[in-house]
Amino acid sequence: MLMKATASGTDVKTGGIALRNLQKRYGSAIAVDDVSLSVSPGEFISLLGPSGSGKTTTLMMIAGFELPNSGQVLLDEKDITRLPPHRRQLGVIFQNYALFPHMTVAENVAYPLRMRRLPKLEIETRVRRILDQVHLGPLTSRYPHQMSGGQQQRVAIARALVFDPPVLLLDEPLGALDKKLREHLRNEIKTLHKEVGKTMIYVTHDQDEALAMSDRVAVMHEGRIRQVSTPMDIYRRPADLFVASFVGEVNLIPVKLKSGAVHGPAGEILPAPAWQDADRDATLCVRPEHMRLDATASGSCGGIKGRISGMTFVGDATTFEFRSEAGLHLLSKVLNVSAKTMPEVGDPCLASWAAHDATILTE
Ligand SMILES: Nc1ncnc2c1ncn2[C@@H]1O[C@H](COP(=O)(O)OP(=O)(O)OP(=O)(O)O)[C@@H](O)[C@H]1O
Ligand SMILES: [Mg+2]
Repeated sequence: MLMKATASGTDVKTGGIALRNLQKRYGSAIAVDDVSLSVSPGEFISLLGPSGSGKTTTLMMIAGFELPNSGQVLLDEKDITRLPPHRRQLGVIFQNYALFPHMTVAENVAYPLRMRRLPKLEIETRVRRILDQVHLGPLTSRYPHQMSGGQQQRVAIARALVFDPPVLLLDEPLGALDKKLREHLRNEIKTLHKEVGKTMIYVTHDQDEALAMSDRVAVMHEGRIRQVSTPMDIYRRPADLFVASFVGEVNLIPVKLKSGAVHGPAGEILPAPAWQDADRDATLCVRPEHMRLDATASGSCGGIKGRISGMTFVGDATTFEFRSEAGLHLLSKVLNVSAKTMPEVGDPCLASWAAHDATILTE
């Protein structure tokens, strides 16, 4: 964790970011709409959302490459909204790596220090140290085109870290890499985060990445933040239909909340948590791994009657498709544990779930 000495001599953590009602318009289109977010020093937070949801624009306003139409950006409680990028002390890794092609690895990484006019010897020491940290020590005199995508990405990370900024902004840093390498570098970035203790704001449209890496995730849609919470909360307690369907697979069941019970499409009573609202229409969300398809259960247990309509083997699990008597399609995901008898296509069964695994959304 980075510390800064205060006038009273005590140390405080640095690298806290606060966004206050940020708005960015391009002509009449609103790219970022009333975004507020507090990021604690040392926190790893992801901005997760589909293409065009305003992630890059938000990050560029934090970095200083875009000016908001209204709202503020604060770094450690200081208003930096109108400060030029090079005076913000934020490390930035762009959506494409943007290394200088005519410079070697060492020269690329030294660049921010040369801009800051550090003494030559100190530049050399710092560059060597950071390149060792990202395991690029042996490649210092290579040019970008002589390296793999993953290696180039590490150079970009080293270049953003070399001047020791309290905050690192990363925009889809693994976007161009294949799945295996993404997972490998994802772990490296996480380890690096633990080692250097810097605040990291990480933009991605990949939900697995966001859930696996972050302390908290901010889900964005159409320029707005829809929910900010821990990965587990985002997945288990989505705040609205967009978050429920964007993060992970989900069964959305149209229901009626009536006289203290949740009624399914055919009027059947369904397992669901207690709710506060008055009687109304709602949607019940159940994740496929929580959906049980039981051939022996009877309808009186609470659930939806129907048949298995399809199945897909996906290696470690099997996904069953279910069609209710009222025509509702549901998915159930079951781990392929050995010696377990699986239902077959056409089998009648009852789809059910534990009440605490369902979320009621009333938007
Ligand atoms: N310079 C610009 N001029 C006009 N519109 C822009 C500009 N930059 C972004 N936009 C628009 O603002 C919206 C948000 O764009 P942004 O780049 O922030 O999305 P994103 O979430 O980063 O998407 P992606 O995942 O595709 O990178 C989009 O509708 C985009 O077309
Ligand atoms: Mg983007």
